[in-house]
Amino acid sequence: MYGGGNIFENVPVDLESEDQEKLAAFEARINRGEKIEPMDWMPGLYRKQLIRMIEQHAHSEIIGALPEGTWITRAPGFKRKLSLMAKVQDEVGHAQLLYSAAETLGKPREAMINDLITGKSKYSNIFNYPAFTWADATIISWIVDAGAIVNQLANLKGSYGPYCRALDRICAEESFHLKYGHHAVIHLATGSPLQRKMVQEALNRWWPPMMHFFGPPDKASVHSEILMRWKVKMASNDENRQQFLDMYVPKIWELGLTVPDPNLNKNNESGQWEYTEPDWEEFKRVINGDGPCNAERLAVRRFAEERGAWMRKAILKKETEYVMPLA
Ligand code: COA
Repeated sequence: MYGGGNIFENVPVDLESEDQEKLAAFEARINRGEKIEPMDWMPGLYRKQLIRMIEQHAHSEIIGALPEGTWITRAPGFKRKLSLMAKVQDEVGHAQLLYSAAETLGKPREAMINDLITGKSKYSNIFNYPAFTWADATIISWIVDAGAIVNQLANLKGSYGPYCRALDRICAEESFHLKYGHHAVIHLATGSPLQRKMVQEALNRWWPPMMHFFGPPDKASVHSEILMRWKVKMASNDENRQQFLDMYVPKIWELGLTVPDPNLNKNNESGQWEYTEPDWEEFKRVINGDGPCNAERLAVRRFAEERGAWMRKAILKKETEYVMPLA
C-alpha cells in the first residue's frame, strides 16, 4: 500500500514558473473560503509547504506519545492509568490521521518515517524534554495539549481539506485530553504541600519549552507569510502565543501556582502579554537535534521500526503500486 515513488518531487516551487492563470484561480478559491482537495490543481510550493507542516505535525504526535507513555505503568491509580492509556492511544491515532493527510499530497508514509528516524524531519521542540515525575506528565496533558488546541483550532478552518478534517477530529479528542490533564493538575495543586511543590516544579520545567512551542517570533518566522496568504496557517506564531497566555495564565494563577517569569504581565493598554524573551538559541539547538532527549526519542522510533519490519514485510507486497489516498 505505501510503496512507490514520490510524485511531489521535481514539482516547481517558485511561483514565477507556475501557470499564472491557474495560480490566480487557485488563490481566488482560497480567498472565497473554498477547500482545496488532493486532486485539485495547486502550486508546487503549496504542496511542499503542506507536506512539511503536516509531516512535522504527524511526527510530533507520535513522538509526543513517548514522554507520557512512560508514565502509563506508574500513573497513580487505576483510573489515571486507564485515562492516560486512552490519551496516548489517541495521540498515536492523531499521527495516523496526519500521515494519511500528508500522503494525499504524494509523499509516501515510509519516506516520512524514514525522514523522522534519520533526523531529516523536524518535530515539536517540546517533546525533547524529560518527564521526570508524575506532575510532568500532568502538565504535558494540560498545558501542552492546551497549546496544541490553540494552534489547531485556528488551523482547522484552513484551506486544505484533508488536513482540516483531520484537525477537526484531533481537536475534539484533544479537548478530552485537556479536561483530563486539568483534572490531574487540580488534584496535585490542591493536594499536600509535597504534591503542590511537585506540580510547581513541573510547571517551571515546562514553561520555557512551552513559550518556544508556538514557533519563533513573527518577525523571524520563515514560512508564516506564504502559509497565511494561502490560509494554511490561520494565526501567526505570536498571535497563538498571546492567545495561549490569555486563556491559560489566569487558570494557572487560579490554582495558586506561579508562572516562572518575573516579567510576565498583561499590558492593559495594548492588550498584549509582555514576557521575558524566550531563549531562541536553546530553541534552535533543540529543534535541530540537540535537546535533552532528541537522541533517546529517535532511538525509540528506530527500535520500533526495526522491530516492526517483519510485520510490514509480511503484509506488504513489493509489486503493489503506490496508491495515493484521497482524504
Ligand atoms: N518545534 C520544532 N520546530 C519548530 C517549532 C517547534 N515548536 N516552531 C517552528 N519550528 C521550525 C519550523 O518547522 C521551521 O523549520 P523548517 O523550515 O526546517 O521546517 C522553522 O522552525 C521556522 O519556523 P516558522 O517559519 O515559524 O514555521 P511554521 O510557519 O511552519 O510555524 C508551527 C511553525 C509549529 C507553528 C506550524 O508549523 C504549525 O502550526 N504546525 C502544525 C501544528 C503542529 O505541528 N503542532 C505541534 C505538535 S502538537
